[in-house]
Amino acid sequence: MLSGIIFLIAFSFTVIYVRKKTRQTLPLPPGPRKYPIIGNLLKIPSDNHWIVYDRLAKECNSDIIHLSVFGNSVVVLNSFTAATEVLDRQSSISSSRPLGTMIGEIMGWKYIFSLQPYGQRWRDSRRMFWQEFHPEHGRAHHRPIQLRCSRDLIRRLYESPIDFQTHVRHAIGAGIISVLYGLDIQEEDPNISMVDDALKHINVGLIGTCMVDLFPFLRHVPRWVPGAGFRTIGENAARDLNLLIDVPYLQTRKLLAEGRGESSFIYRTLSRGPIPNGGMEERILKEAATTTYIGANETSKLPMTLLFAMMAQNPDVQAKAQQELDQYLDHRRLPEFGDEIHLPYTYAVLLELLRLEPTAPLGLPRSLVSDGEYKSYHLPSGSIVFYNIWAILHDETTFPEPEKFNPSRFLKDGVIDTQLKDRVMTTFGFGRRVCPGRYFALDNLWLNLASILSVYTMSKAVDESGQQIEIDLEYTADLNRHVLPFKCSIEPRSAKAEEVIRECCRV
Ligand code: HEM
Repeated sequence: MLSGIIFLIAFSFTVIYVRKKTRQTLPLPPGPRKYPIIGNLLKIPSDNHWIVYDRLAKECNSDIIHLSVFGNSVVVLNSFTAATEVLDRQSSISSSRPLGTMIGEIMGWKYIFSLQPYGQRWRDSRRMFWQEFHPEHGRAHHRPIQLRCSRDLIRRLYESPIDFQTHVRHAIGAGIISVLYGLDIQEEDPNISMVDDALKHINVGLIGTCMVDLFPFLRHVPRWVPGAGFRTIGENAARDLNLLIDVPYLQTRKLLAEGRGESSFIYRTLSRGPIPNGGMEERILKEAATTTYIGANETSKLPMTLLFAMMAQNPDVQAKAQQELDQYLDHRRLPEFGDEIHLPYTYAVLLELLRLEPTAPLGLPRSLVSDGEYKSYHLPSGSIVFYNIWAILHDETTFPEPEKFNPSRFLKDGVIDTQLKDRVMTTFGFGRRVCPGRYFALDNLWLNLASILSVYTMSKAVDESGQQIEIDLEYTADLNRHVLPFKCSIEPRSAKAEEVIRECCRV
């Protein structure tokens, strides 16, 4: 018996040793030529990274590439196969996140669980999140709020169509704040601008943009030393983030003390068990709520705004979706949850919006906690891993003419092609860190998109001389992309549509 155990242990060590040896002798994935010390620094683009990485991968004739910057290893997964092999199949080593000294320690974002390395704190936060946002629980509690906010959006678009981008921002912010904190959001509500204030700093802290990430000891340099301006920037960022963590939470506690706010995530979590004031669990609850607020607020604005531009630019697509909506709804009401199964083309419009311009084209970066392997390439422990969602969703073999806005690509025999739909779901990431808010996001996007299309027609705006104003979309260069302001005309489709809108304004 004992000799059997000893044999097994010896055998396992031999296997581990041989595998380790083999891995070390495996080559790194291909990539552009590396220069001494700086590595590929000059190849790291300042904008549209996903397009540059896709091009580099094609030049290397490989779906995985390797770069290095000042000795830091960077791996880019440029295909669906590469992403699933590394992030799904090797999830035990690829589910962590890199967190630089600037953003994590100085700016305080280590409390935001979407950025936390894999570990107990992340697990506790994600569990708390999931109790609220798993589909059955979420749908029962969130759909009524989503419906109310969507109807409010329809009303706002009627009253001042020119401000459609502000209305989209308000609808998304108001919905998630109501779900999380049970707060009613007013015009110009500070709870909505607070998230913008916290986020405006984030680009400064992104990995690779600060010397303190390369030389963490610099965080102790006194503020007055020339070049230590990053400390003041970081402390301002931490202050804004702390306000976002504390202020709406304290407002909810006040509401609860007055016997209100009971429809919120905060209330439901507090009532699940004793969470003492000022303890670690309360801290995790506040941080989970802030992470969710940021996650929801920052991601859905792009596909919602893109809807207006794509409909104005593709009147044939708009007409086809509206024909489907009219046949099913008979001009009598606005769409509701559950209608999507009867409206495949309209649903395909949503999928195509998510595909064409993914909100997070390179996802949220991962880091490898030990050595990995893909296609006989060695993936070194400690590498930062990007997965190129944009490249996956613009892969010509799956999506012919990928630059074309063509929802029909998702229909097979009149119903949604589930394989293609699943592929678009990679916009929410992979493996253990896949976006846990995806059900909430899809519900929200679907209801808003179908409701807007059922009663409004979008077209290009015209200037004073009667000339159409072309829509030339420009995006922010943030981690999550936003569409910069553009002009678009939004009008009720018909007298009947106007009646439905007015009815919705009366509710
Ligand atoms: C169109 C909408 C959305 C898109 C495209 C999107 C996309 C993503 C992506 C790509 C990630 C990283 C996943 C990975 O590393 O594999 C992520 C993470 C996350 N998302 Fe979303 N998301 C959306 C909406 C939402 C919403 C509505 C919420 C909240 C209700 C949310 C909450 C989160 C959270 C908490 C994480 C961090 C997960 C973790 O690190 O464990 N997202 N999302």
